[in-house]
Amino acid sequence: MTTVPSDARETMTPVQEILASDIGPEIPAPLLEQSPPPSYGVEDLDVDRYLSPEFMRLEYEKLWSRVWQWACLAHEIPESGDHLVYEIGDKSVLIVRQPDGGIKAFYNSCQHRARLIADGPGEGATSFVCGFHAWTYNLDGTLKHVPCQWDFPQVTENRARFGLREIRCETYGGFVFINFDDEAGSLIEHLDVIPEHFKPYPLEHRFSVANVRKIVPINWKACLEAFLESYHVYLTHPQALEFTGDANTQYDIWKTTSRLMTLTATPSPHLSEGGTPDDVFHATAAAFGAPEDQIPPLPDGMPARAMIAEMAKQLVGPQIGMNLDDRSHAELIDSIEYFVFPNWLPWAGLTQGLQYRFRPNGDDPCSSIFDVQLMLPFDPSGPRPPSAPLKVLQYEDSFVEHAPELSLFAPIFDQDFANLVAINKGMKTHGKPGITLGDYQEARIRHFHKLVDEWLAR
Ligand code: FES
Ligand SMILES: [Fe+2]
Repeated sequence: MTTVPSDARETMTPVQEILASDIGPEIPAPLLEQSPPPSYGVEDLDVDRYLSPEFMRLEYEKLWSRVWQWACLAHEIPESGDHLVYEIGDKSVLIVRQPDGGIKAFYNSCQHRARLIADGPGEGATSFVCGFHAWTYNLDGTLKHVPCQWDFPQVTENRARFGLREIRCETYGGFVFINFDDEAGSLIEHLDVIPEHFKPYPLEHRFSVANVRKIVPINWKACLEAFLESYHVYLTHPQALEFTGDANTQYDIWKTTSRLMTLTATPSPHLSEGGTPDDVFHATAAAFGAPEDQIPPLPDGMPARAMIAEMAKQLVGPQIGMNLDDRSHAELIDSIEYFVFPNWLPWAGLTQGLQYRFRPNGDDPCSSIFDVQLMLPFDPSGPRPPSAPLKVLQYEDSFVEHAPELSLFAPIFDQDFANLVAINKGMKTHGKPGITLGDYQEARIRHFHKLVDEWLAR
């Protein structure tokens, strides 16, 4: 069934109209862009896509084995021999910083009897010694030493065949991606609009103030989808309504990427009466952490967005050692979240540098791994500040209590994650065979599934 795009937005102020009324520095062109209205029909999505072990098996076979996927950050392995292990399903990948500064990835498996080469991350290795019989590999994967080599004439005859098997590995903006498919196109091609749209926010000049992982009892797609729309804001994050334009969020869809732009310091269209500009300003400032008694009144005639952007500049600029005077309000205060198929969600802008990653966990379709990093810009003329080490939370651990470094995002994640177990249970007891999606606000979810289908059909 094909439908025309819904007109459900027509009574709301579009994002572009609000951006056009912003006073202040020029807004980067990509933020003024709108994709053609997405419409993929209104068919339900079968719940088996989330619950079926067979669907998951197909995803491993057809998708994860062939798609570019964010494996780690280059700054996590800064020096020669630094390495870490990335896992997807039952595949384990060893990623190694090379002496020449490059990065290589290998199947993390010994060429003798297949023991894992590295059980976890490490620093400054000069070679890798397998823990079973000590076959030893150079950092570039070539075979260095075999104890009792006299017993392996096949190795003596063709040593090159016994190096670690290399996997494609390419880097964008300090993000290291791997792809098991030698025939795949380039990473840059796969990243679609990202290199162009992220020019104003170079990701390589960011460091992590939070690096948190949670194993979540729900399918990886359902977990990811909770972050693809702002439709849930009015009930799941009701504290944001006074200052968040949730229902007039702009959704854009390109080839392998999509975006939402939810504006801040503007009231929700769900509120029958938005507050005065001063109310909106006050609520926004308080939500951004300004102490109540230090929030000044909004100067006469000054838009709330302009005043919040000014405060963000003064607060964040010195923290990150950057002069933000020439940055637009949108870059300073709005929620601008991109999606790169299949599982990376980088936020644009300067102050909300969230990075999400979602992946399946082993062979249980109802278990997934969620990673979030909060990455702030730093002045690249100075040294790179140290990044926060990985912290792993149990599902029950609240972000507020156990990961306060996520700052004002921690309580929001707690609200999001409180839904997930209930969604997983609800899917299993669903009276109808499919879930239903909105035409516009949930179009990114449909686009995501359309891409999944395309990959599974290849
Ligand atoms: S399995 Fe690695 S040395 Fe034997
Ligand atoms: Fe949310």
